[in-house]
Amino acid sequence: MSQNAARELKSNNAVLYLPDGQSIELPVITGSENEKAIDIGKLRSQTGHITMDPGYGNTGSCQSEITFLDGEKGILRYRGIPIEQLAAKATFVETAYLIIYGHLPNQKELELFRYNLNHHAMLHEDMKHFFASFSGQAHPMAILSAMVASLSGYYGEESGMDDPDMNAARLISKIRTLAAFSYKKSIGQPFIYPQDSLSYCANFLRMMFAVPTRDYEPDPVVVDALNLLLILHADHEQNCSTATVRTVASSHASLYASVAAGILALWGPLHGGANQKVIEMLERIRMDGGNIKKFVDMAKDKDSGFRLMGFGHRVYKNFDPRATVIKNACDKVLDKLGIEDPILDLAKQLEDVALSDDYFVERKLYPNVDFYSGIIYRAIGIPVNMFTVMFALGRLPGWIGQWRELMEDPGHRITRPRQIYQGQTAVDYIPIEKRA
Ligand code: CMC
Repeated sequence: MSQNAARELKSNNAVLYLPDGQSIELPVITGSENEKAIDIGKLRSQTGHITMDPGYGNTGSCQSEITFLDGEKGILRYRGIPIEQLAAKATFVETAYLIIYGHLPNQKELELFRYNLNHHAMLHEDMKHFFASFSGQAHPMAILSAMVASLSGYYGEESGMDDPDMNAARLISKIRTLAAFSYKKSIGQPFIYPQDSLSYCANFLRMMFAVPTRDYEPDPVVVDALNLLLILHADHEQNCSTATVRTVASSHASLYASVAAGILALWGPLHGGANQKVIEMLERIRMDGGNIKKFVDMAKDKDSGFRLMGFGHRVYKNFDPRATVIKNACDKVLDKLGIEDPILDLAKQLEDVALSDDYFVERKLYPNVDFYSGIIYRAIGIPVNMFTVMFALGRLPGWIGQWRELMEDPGHRITRPRQIYQGQTAVDYIPIEKRA
């Protein structure tokens, strides 16, 4: 295509010129917030070329109506509503409904949703035996993913994919029971069954911390803190675990199978597993005498293999709006609970030192959602190895909403990236006796 012809392009199209003389006109897609993407759907069939983008930093995998995120401006909205408003005013259950169904529930819709969550809170009694088979050292994320996949053995066949509302309610409700039971198993206490009269968060806290011998009244400060943290984690568009859920779902795997895969992707320390690693890092700094500069220098040294956990983000290059809300909440929650945690002071000092250091400034590395969330989890009594499980509880509505969006898209295709092969070109098979 000549330059003149390029000028006659439809105004929305882009042109790609290739070194072999070919060129191709590519449509540009514009999102509702004016984000732009070049549609390369015909690139390979028309030119024989593919694109290369390891880590997918420049690749859109879908068009979605769920979450808007502007990393440069620090904006995060679920279905158009700013995260700050939801954090201040909404419940996690409302937020889950919003993400999955696209609008805030009216009174009737909310009551039905709550009824379904209560109705599905218990586990099939047989599933209780599964917990006994895990070793005492099993990480709760291993147990959670295995148990979520196992749900398909009890509830998948009968309702399959034809009743997505039922499966969504089941999963949101049962994941809370599974998480609490895995904790009870790890400390050798009896399982505490869910109770319909309690809110989503209070019910979870009771299953975690009540014992049969004593009354348990969830502290409203703790209930509110948990509600806030779950809302802030509820969706984050095409992050590693959500992209995993969509990839697994694209083969038409069930909601349970897709979410179980998402849980495992979340576990990694570069993703949701970072919240556990942040507290372990802060403890390590404290035990080492609190020499923050030493650890900042280590994070800057590529040979050390050490990174500041809870710092940096693929998308946020200014600030993580979730971290801002959590940092403010941290002081308030600890204050209300009358807790003084030396780790909080250490975290603030670490943030100050890192944010005035050229290495972090130049690379736009800021505290992310995981940096302060662990301090609140710790203050409300959640054990460190359960932190990533809490992230999974929060992220579940996002996974479900994204799973449904993919399934309802008539144009969706199985996820199947290509590669550029860099290995040995064709050679003959060598019989074993002739091999070197
Ligand atoms: N400490 C020190 N250096 C860092 C860090 C860090 N935490 N994060 C990134 N860098 C450096 C990195 O070495 C690289 O430097 P250079 O350009 O000299 O090679 C540069 O910053 C860009 O890093 P990257 O690894 O290419 O960035 P990415 O977008 O691929 O990775 C990240 C994003 C979040 C995985 C990464 O910042 C990281 O490993 N952070 C620590 C783990 C963490 O806190 N994860 C939670 C993320 S938020 C929760 C969630 O949604 O998952």
